[in-house]
Parts: sequence; C-alpha cells; structure tokens
Amino acid sequence: MNAELVRATVFHTPENAFHTAAALQSHSDGALAVHQGKVAACGDYSAVRDLFPHLPVRDLRGSFIFPGFVDTHIHFPQVRVMGGLGHSLMDWLDLLTLPEEARFSDPAYATVIAGEFIHSLVSHGTTTALVFGAHFVPATEALFDAAAATGVRVIAGLVLADRLLRPELHTTPEAAWRDCRELIIRTRQSDRLAYAVIPRFALSVSEPLLEVCQALLREDASLRFTTHINESPREIETVHSLFPWARDYLQVYGKYDLVGPRSVLAHNVHATDAEIEDVARYGATVAHCPCSNVALGSGIFPMRRHLDRNAHFALGTDVGGGIGFGIMKEALQAHLLQRLAPDPMTVSPAQMLYLATRAGAEALAMEETIGDFSPGKSADYVVLRPAPASSLGNVLRGAEDPSRILAALFTLGTAESICEVRVAGDIVFGAE
Ligand code: GUN
Ligand code: ZN
Repeated sequence: MNAELVRATVFHTPENAFHTAAALQSHSDGALAVHQGKVAACGDYSAVRDLFPHLPVRDLRGSFIFPGFVDTHIHFPQVRVMGGLGHSLMDWLDLLTLPEEARFSDPAYATVIAGEFIHSLVSHGTTTALVFGAHFVPATEALFDAAAATGVRVIAGLVLADRLLRPELHTTPEAAWRDCRELIIRTRQSDRLAYAVIPRFALSVSEPLLEVCQALLREDASLRFTTHINESPREIETVHSLFPWARDYLQVYGKYDLVGPRSVLAHNVHATDAEIEDVARYGATVAHCPCSNVALGSGIFPMRRHLDRNAHFALGTDVGGGIGFGIMKEALQAHLLQRLAPDPMTVSPAQMLYLATRAGAEALAMEETIGDFSPGKSADYVVLRPAPASSLGNVLRGAEDPSRILAALFTLGTAESICEVRVAGDIVFGAE
C-alpha cells in the first residue's frame, strides 16, 4: 500500500525522555498517515484525517502503534545458545558459545540460522538492529542476504579476533582487511544494510588487528563501530594484563580512534567514572543489555552514573547471552533492575519507550530517518494487539492514563501481541 492512514492508539517519543518531561506523545484515537514509505503526519485521528481526507483508512482501533524497535546489540550466531543459564561470561563463551560459533564455518548451517535470526528479529518488532555477524565471511553474507530478503534494517559486520578464542575463529590482520572490504561492498547494494567494524572485544584482538579496524574506519566515514567493554571482572583483568599501557579498558579502543559518535560499546557495567565521562566526550553510545547482565551475572548497569555524566545509552538484547529477542522485555528489565541498583532510579514508561526506539536510532546516527513518527521519517512501525483473553487485554480494559497503558504494554506485551511490523511502509512481519 503506497498511501494510507492507519487508525489506532499511537505512542512515540520524538525527544529524549531523560531530558524532556513531556517527551511522550500519545494519541488514544490516533493515526499515522503514510505516503511512499514515509510518515506524512501523526496525531489525533480527526486532525490527521482533515489533513489527508482522501487517503484510505485502515481501521486498527483496539491496537497500539509504536515506532519500530531498535536493538543495538545482538549476535547472529548465538540463536541456539539462548537459555544456556548458570554461567558467567568467560565460561559461557568457552563452554557454550564459541563452540556454537565455530559451526558457522558451514555456510549451509549459517543460512538456516540466518533465516531463523531475521524472522525472530521482526516477529519481536525490531526493525533496525546492530548485529555481530559471524567470524566467517560466507556466514556473514548469509546474514546480509536474509536481512535483504526480509527488508529489515541491519548494520552488521564480520566479527574479528586473532587470539585467545579458538583457532577456528581466528583471523589475521591481512585477511581481516581484505574480508571486511569485500563485505563493505556487499552492503552497498541495499539502503537498508550498512557495515560495522567489529573486533569481538579487546581481549581477543592484537594491536595490529586494532590497527586494521582503525584503517577501515578512516577509509569510510559511513561505517559504524561496535564491540564489548567492561562486562565482567575476569574479562577486565585480562584486558588490563594484555594492554598494560592503557589507563582503562576504553583507552584500548580510544588509542586506535575507534570511539566516536558512530560507536556502540556493549555493556559498560563495571565502568570507572573517567570511562563514562570519556563515552560522553566521544559522543559514543553504550548498548545496555539488562537481561544479559542478569543472565550472565555480570552486574547492574550504572544508569544514573551514565545519566549524570551525559553518556548516551540505548538497549540491546545481547542474544544469546540475553534471554530473547524482545526489546520491550529489555526495557522492562532495565526498569526492574534500576529499582535495585545501588544508586536506584525509576525508569518511566516514556523513558522505556525512548530507550526502545529513538535512543537506538541516535546510537546508530539514524535519528534523521527512524526512531519516532515526525513527518518525513521512514514509516517503520510495530502494531500490538492484545489477545482477547490475555492478561494484557484485561489490564488495558481498566487503564486510561497513557503512561499506565504504556507501562502495561511493556510489562505484559509479548511477541504474541505483535501482529504487524513495517519498514518504510513495507510489511516485514504479519499479514496485510
Ligand atoms: N564478550 C565477548 N564476546 C561476547 C559475547 O558473545 N557475548 C557477550 N555478552 N560478551 C562478549
Ligand atoms: Zn554481546
């Protein structure tokens, strides 16, 4: 459908909900006017209808529309390790995850999982994701192919390591340079794909490999950068011993010019104040992955310390250290955990929505295109419809206040509540 007016309850946060008290915009009888894949207007149904009286109306009253969710940290080759509970990071990598990732040397296996991975993304309402690809070029190509076939926005790259994992997962600086440049060309074939340079974490990369990352980013300003940082104490200790010249973990990446406004650093649970200040100074983003932080026993993200220092963060599911593909569950978990943080805070429903949508768009330097329903942005949206006899349906029957409704949607909404997902107006999940 090239042009239509979708009628439903609409929520979005066009501003940073941690900075602006009135960031939440809600329209209980609302509408989204979509024309040629872009938002033409968003507001109360009657006002939007007056603006576009000739557009056909799709009446979805009883449903809720959000901007498409943005997952800023997820691993493609870890679909089958979800639910491997009871380990902390380094054991989980050695015992479960790296053996599974070695299986991606088989392109046929990688192609099967790529299909499962992309289907799971869109069926959970994620329309844009920053994805750790595989350590193998054909497997990473399979990811890009599956994304392109569906139409979801994916920024991904080959995962790079040349030490301390398993030999099958190691590359060399020369091979990494060649392979990344080939894959970068591959992503230029679609405006919904983009490339990220991805050293797995400082622990698994030599300084010559970090130099390759630096050279790739220097050569092409459109590339993103992502990696892990400050996730678990054992990891941090090892990084200190491998890079004795670095004041802290962030400085390892900083020395090679890898951190800037297009960088996303996953976790940052055990960060020093100086590191958080540096994240802000670089204009980088932390991918906060609360479900993974709990499942791997990594710790509680110091959200207040990030806010106090103006360091940006968004949400990531961290599949498969995390417990599923749902960004709404990550927002809920962020809320729950911050109640228990040493420096506790209450993350409001508006802030949860902001973290799930616009904060991710900002993290990926895509806030001009996606993240909310301002006119001219891409019509990337999720439609939620509570099942008739569900707890969510029951709670919503008694709720009128927009924040209360939003809190119920985040608490009780599941993948089963998501009935339609679109990118630039095109269906990527659900029925027409
Ligand atoms: N650090 C290095 N690799 C990984 C990974 O696959 N998952 C998580 N959570 N942390 C990592
Ligand atoms: Zn991760």
